[in-house]
Amino acid sequence: MPPEPQPRRSARTSPGALHELGTGLADSSQRGPVARQGGDADAAAADLDWWRRGVVYQVYPRSFADGNGDGIGDLRGIIEHLDHLNDGSPASLGVDAIWLSPIYPSPDFDFGYDVADYVGVDASYGTLADFDAFVEASHERGIRVILDLVLNHSSHLHPWFEASRSSRSGPYADWYIWADSPGRSITGGRRRPNNWRSFFGGPAWTWDKTREQFYMHTFLPEQPDLNWRNPDVRAALMDVVRTWLERGVDGFRLDVFNVFFKDASLRSNPRRVGRLGAWSWQRHIHDRDQPELADALAELRALVDAYPGTMTVGELFDGSIREAAANVAPRHLIFDWSLIWPRWSAPAFRAAIAARDMVFGPDLWPANVLSNHDQPRHASRFAPVAVSAAEGDGRAKIAAAMLLTLRGTAFLYYGEEIAQRNLVVPNAGAFDPPARRAGVLFRWWNRDQCRGPMSWRGGPGAGFTTGRPWLPVAPDAASRNVARQSAEPDSVLSFYRQLIWLRRDTPVLGEGSQELIDVGDTDVLAYVRRLGDSSAMVLLNFASRPVTIDVPQPGPGRSWRIALSTQQHGPANGLGGRVTLNPLEALVGLDG
Ligand code: GLC
Ligand code: CA
Repeated sequence: MPPEPQPRRSARTSPGALHELGTGLADSSQRGPVARQGGDADAAAADLDWWRRGVVYQVYPRSFADGNGDGIGDLRGIIEHLDHLNDGSPASLGVDAIWLSPIYPSPDFDFGYDVADYVGVDASYGTLADFDAFVEASHERGIRVILDLVLNHSSHLHPWFEASRSSRSGPYADWYIWADSPGRSITGGRRRPNNWRSFFGGPAWTWDKTREQFYMHTFLPEQPDLNWRNPDVRAALMDVVRTWLERGVDGFRLDVFNVFFKDASLRSNPRRVGRLGAWSWQRHIHDRDQPELADALAELRALVDAYPGTMTVGELFDGSIREAAANVAPRHLIFDWSLIWPRWSAPAFRAAIAARDMVFGPDLWPANVLSNHDQPRHASRFAPVAVSAAEGDGRAKIAAAMLLTLRGTAFLYYGEEIAQRNLVVPNAGAFDPPARRAGVLFRWWNRDQCRGPMSWRGGPGAGFTTGRPWLPVAPDAASRNVARQSAEPDSVLSFYRQLIWLRRDTPVLGEGSQELIDVGDTDVLAYVRRLGDSSAMVLLNFASRPVTIDVPQPGPGRSWRIALSTQQHGPANGLGGRVTLNPLEALVGLDG
């Protein structure tokens, strides 16, 4: 049963109301879910729907901004840079929310994705008071705060696991997934309970000497999987969710949510002929996506829904568009990887978008994302070595236009607004734990490469830190940085700002339907968005040559007006009939 909505403590502010209704920070007793519904009903409804048209900015806290000079990003550092994200004016990015990668106390075997205390803040990021200050400062700027919830597994140093491994009969005995060894193999080793693998290499089972049993881990041995079948575990995790909602957060990103449940009788996965790497040599039908997930997700969602204006976005682990669609609900988005996999080509993106549109249909709402803390940065994906920096930036602008004008909530990854590239760091000495375990049977892309310090300005530390950064600053930080691009009207950053503010001011871009259109040249990705009687047309020339295309008119007696183009003046011949787009031109036309 969903709990009754409860008033939040007064630190809870209502960012949408502050920002969009312009009500200011008048009276703290008026904030919170109840206050959100007061005032102009339409405006309040639009505010509650922010998750649809919104732009969410992912901050990887370790690498965003270091407030105390120890070389590691922290909450104070983020607060100092909130104006970059949204100061209420088009001179800032104008994002609606921050998704904060984990800031909980963690021994950092997987850099925060191994949580040792679900309701605290790691000392390297600050204190709970800093967190409250961060939420308040974000809300003052109309920025919501979305936390990363890692509920599939904890750290092996979490007191729950320490208690669980210490006794087979204590109160925490059944909080993790434990199993006996079925006996010895012919070589004398202990046989494992089944054939499940760890996604981070090796078997999914590690022997514990104290309990004399195996425990299961989908990821590192230092990340034991919680037993979601135990009602006490589930209740404790719901308490975690409630605690943060009460503290004022506006939603959650759910780490690998479709792995929460495993087969109750721990059956082995059937084998299959795979590609490179042992993970792919079995069909993962028993170690994830179990039917019990639906009920647990419903409970979690009902809890979140009791706080109006909140949202979640689930990270689908290793799943298809169909699985993503099956889990989408209003206010509860699911990442699929449609825009992450295509190589740089208009037909590849067109096919990916068409495939998703077909599965999602007109009702389900997609989450659009090009980069995150696990994947190569898209500015690098789309600009391999042979492509010049200028051309790479041109491609980054096309990608930005696509991300921010496609139907769906847009997710940005810190640094992409300046087309930050992957760091080139040697695999030896990698921080990323799976990269340290990589080998012939287990291939891994070192994620340090996409987690480099944000380049704020030139000079030592690139404005990220006054100390020694935990990862090296970008080699091009002196020329590619926020300060420099802020001052350049044609920069990638200026284009992101224009796009996001256009999206904010143009309901059809935020909410409209979407139809891919054929304009007669396969290098141009084109689509029309429609909402009521307004429409928008997006033309993206992926080619480095001019292309001439046929532009459909919006309707009888109506014409397109250029709202935004990467080229100052747009196509030479305006927007009627046959149009020539410049090389790598991104153009948004509005009806009327
Ligand atoms: C998710 C996170 C990734 C992490 C893994 C284990 O895939 O995005 O960074 O390593 O879960 O928690
Ligand atoms: Ca620091």
